[in-house]
Amino acid sequence: MSVRIIVGAQWGDEGKGKIVDLLSEEADIVARYQGGANAGHTIVIGDTKYVLHLIPSGILHDGTQCVIGNGVVIDPVALLDEITMLEGMGINIAGRLHISHKAHLIMPYHKMLDKAREAMAGSIGTTGRGIGPSYIDKAQRTGIRIVDLLDRDSLTEKLRTNIEATNRILRAVYDVGPLNVEAIIDEYVAFDSRIDPYITDTTAYLHAAIKNGKRILAEGAQGALLDLDHGTYPFVTSSNPTSGGACTGLGIAPTSISSVLGVVKAYSTRVGNGPFPTELHDADGELLRSEGHEFGATTGRSRRCGWLDIPALRYSIMVNGIDSIALTKLDVLGVFESINICTAYHIDGKPVKHFPADVRTLEKVQCEYVTVPGWKSSLDGIRSFGDLPKAAQDYITTVEDLLGVAIEWVSTSPARDDTFRR
Ligand code: GDP
Ligand code: IMO
Ligand code: MG
Repeated sequence: MSVRIIVGAQWGDEGKGKIVDLLSEEADIVARYQGGANAGHTIVIGDTKYVLHLIPSGILHDGTQCVIGNGVVIDPVALLDEITMLEGMGINIAGRLHISHKAHLIMPYHKMLDKAREAMAGSIGTTGRGIGPSYIDKAQRTGIRIVDLLDRDSLTEKLRTNIEATNRILRAVYDVGPLNVEAIIDEYVAFDSRIDPYITDTTAYLHAAIKNGKRILAEGAQGALLDLDHGTYPFVTSSNPTSGGACTGLGIAPTSISSVLGVVKAYSTRVGNGPFPTELHDADGELLRSEGHEFGATTGRSRRCGWLDIPALRYSIMVNGIDSIALTKLDVLGVFESINICTAYHIDGKPVKHFPADVRTLEKVQCEYVTVPGWKSSLDGIRSFGDLPKAAQDYITTVEDLLGVAIEWVSTSPARDDTFRR
C-alpha cells in the first residue's frame, strides 16, 4: 500500500507542480484532491513550460493515470482549455484522466459573485475563479455536481432555482444584470458531452488501485496556511489543502495514507491579502521577487516575498503530519551576502508559543531572526548535496534542525533535472 500526500507547506506556489511531476516518474496514479483553477502548477521540461490549473501534475508522464477527485471544484471552461492545451502540446489525455462524478462544478455566477464580492471592502485578494462561491453552494447543498449533468430535466430545475436566487443577489447587492438560464444550460450540456469519457467513480477506482498495491500520489493545491480551517482565516481559500483534505477530497481512508511530503520554498511568498510575519518591504524583498520570478502562475500578480518562517512551518508540519520535505528554490538565495531565518515570534517581548489563530494577533508578532552566511554564487549544474557550496549545505542543515524533519529533496531550478536527493 502506498499513498503519499504532497502538500504545500506555506501559502502556495512552493513548487508543488515541479515536485509532483518529478515523483510521478515512480507513481501509477496522481490524484488532485481540492481547490480548482485558482491553482497554477508550473512544470518545466527542457524548453517547454506547462502551467496546470486542474489536471494533476502527473499528466506529463505517459505511464501515469490522473484523477480529479470529488473535493475539487471544476470550471468547465478552464478544464476544456487545459485539455486542449495539453493535447496541442502532444500530451495524451484519452484514457488517462479520471474525473469524479461527485465533483462540484463552478458556474458562471460563481465567478461573477467572487469578483463582485472582491470589489467590496475587506477583500481577500482571491483569484476571481469562483472558488469561494462554489464551495459555499456545496456547503449549503445547492451545488451542481458532475453527476447532475446526466439528467437534463433535474439539471434545468436546479439551475433555474440557483440562477433565480443569484439574479436576486446580483441585482440587489451588486447591481449586476440577470443571467440567462437557457444559455447556461446549453453551455453545461455541451461540456458534459466533451468530458463524458473521463467521468467515473474515482473513489472506487482509487480503492481498487490501493488494493492492487498501486503507487498513488495525492496532489494538494494551495498551501497549509491558506487552509480554510487551519490557515490565516479569513485570508484563506475555501477548501482544505492540508493532508486531511486528501481523505475527504478523494474518498480514501486515513489508514491508507503512508506518508506526507511537504513542499517548502527556501523563503516565503504570499499572493493576495492577509498577515505575513516575515514579509520584506525593502530591496531584499524586491531581490527575492526578481530572482525568484515571483509572479502568480494563475493571475500574474506580483507575489509578496519574505524570509523563511520557522514558526509557521512548524505549525504546518504539525497539522499536516509532514514526515519529509522537498526544499525548492534554494538557488534564488544565491544573490544574498547573508540570509535571515525567522526562528520565533514575540508579542510585547513575550514568546508566542502557538501559531496564532486570529489575524490581528498574527499581524502583531515580531519576528526573531538568525542570520546565516549566504554563498553568493550560482547553483547551476549542481546535482548533489556534497557539491553545494558549504554555506548552502549549512542552510539546509540549519533549516532541517530547526524543523526537526528530514529534507529529502533539494530543488535548484525550475527544470526537472535540477533536483537531487539529500
Ligand atoms: P506550485 O503552485 O506550488 O506548483 O508552484 P508555482 O508553479 O505556482 O510556482 C513555483 C515557481 O517556481 C514556478 O515558476 C516553477 O517553475 C519555479 N520553480 C520550482 N522549483 C524551482 C527551483 O528550485 N528554483 C527556481 N529558480 N525556480 C523553481
Ligand atoms: P497554488 O496551487 C497561491 C490565494 C489567493 C487569495 C486566497 C483566496 O498554485 O499554490 P481563492 O481564489 O482561492 O478564493 O483565493 O488564496 N490562492 C493562492 N495563492 N497559490 C495558489 O495556488 C493559490 N490559490 C489561491 O491569492 O489570497
Ligand atoms: Mg502556483
